[in-house]
Amino acid sequence: MSQQVAPVALRDIQRPVAATLERVVDELRRIIAADFPVIAEVNEHLLRMKGKLFRPTLLLLSHQAAGGEEPRAVTLAAVVELIHLATLVHDDSVDHSALRRGMPTINALFSHQVAVIMGDYLYSRAIIELVALDDLEPLRVFARVTNEMTVGEMRQLEAHDKLAYGEAQYDALIRAKTASLLSGACEVGALRAARDCREALARFGMSLGMAFQITDDLLDYTQPQAVTGKPSGLDLKEHKVTLPLIAALARLAPGDRRLVELLMASPDPPDDLVAEVIRAVEAADGLEYARRRAQELAQQAETELETLSPSPARDALRDSIAYAVERHS
Ligand code: IPE
Ligand code: IPE
Ligand code: MG
Ligand code: MG
Repeated sequence: MSQQVAPVALRDIQRPVAATLERVVDELRRIIAADFPVIAEVNEHLLRMKGKLFRPTLLLLSHQAAGGEEPRAVTLAAVVELIHLATLVHDDSVDHSALRRGMPTINALFSHQVAVIMGDYLYSRAIIELVALDDLEPLRVFARVTNEMTVGEMRQLEAHDKLAYGEAQYDALIRAKTASLLSGACEVGALRAARDCREALARFGMSLGMAFQITDDLLDYTQPQAVTGKPSGLDLKEHKVTLPLIAALARLAPGDRRLVELLMASPDPPDDLVAEVIRAVEAADGLEYARRRAQELAQQAETELETLSPSPARDALRDSIAYAVERHS
């Protein structure tokens, strides 16, 4: 008989840093403020779209777990969310996505041109803020990881031979496009801690980030847009090969493999074809395989926390692992 465990809520993992997180949102508003009308209008829209604030949460928890009490952590947490937001604005334009956080994307509501410019606007504001701190260390980490993210997004775009796309390539892709920023958030939170602690948190963020992206890729297969706030099945519509499909491809029956080939050859695959491929991937245990892989990475992340002294923040970091793999949005 399987044991029923209460799922971890976002609110629970944010509890040790809840008061600071509220200030992070005000800080974000201050950092992106603009006089120019269109920019101000896009900013208002972006501030109305509420995200989970997962990266600032990780940064602040890492900071606390490593014994830090610096006021600048609020700014650093706002910066990591801002970098994330800039990449989302660009990502939705690249992915032709019309919905984010349950609201229209910038490319859908304004235009692709506005999305390109606004992504740069947000990112450069983040850099201005980092430069104002007059400390090269956080700038060094964030500059490196944002560059890795661009390479990750390019890897995705350049995956030509879809059916030959393997798990090693997928791992490299999700490390670069997603895990690098979660790792950077944890590392920056612990910048002034001892080196072994800082490095353990960076590794924690990397494994957690990979598990987080695998879960996102699963949600694209399993959840309706009313739950995720993003279009469902979009990865397949955009011919994106993620772990459930990679795992399933090795064992698909010839008829089902032809369905995948047909989808990859359709410039605009119809919804019923997408649904058929999802069914085939599930039947070939692709979803189950991806869930197991996310669990494996979750376990790796947990091991890294053993270096830290016990604290409510460390417990919350441990719970964030369960949250990352069990969440529905
Ligand atoms: C979405 O990130 C992009 C991915 C890396 C999967 P989140 O799932 O953290 O999105 P928000 O910020 O909560 O909307
Ligand atoms: C993550 O990939 C995007 C970034 C890291 C910028 P996805 O394309 O899967 O993210 P969603 O699903 O649009 O949030
Ligand atoms: Mg996307
Ligand atoms: Mg996705």
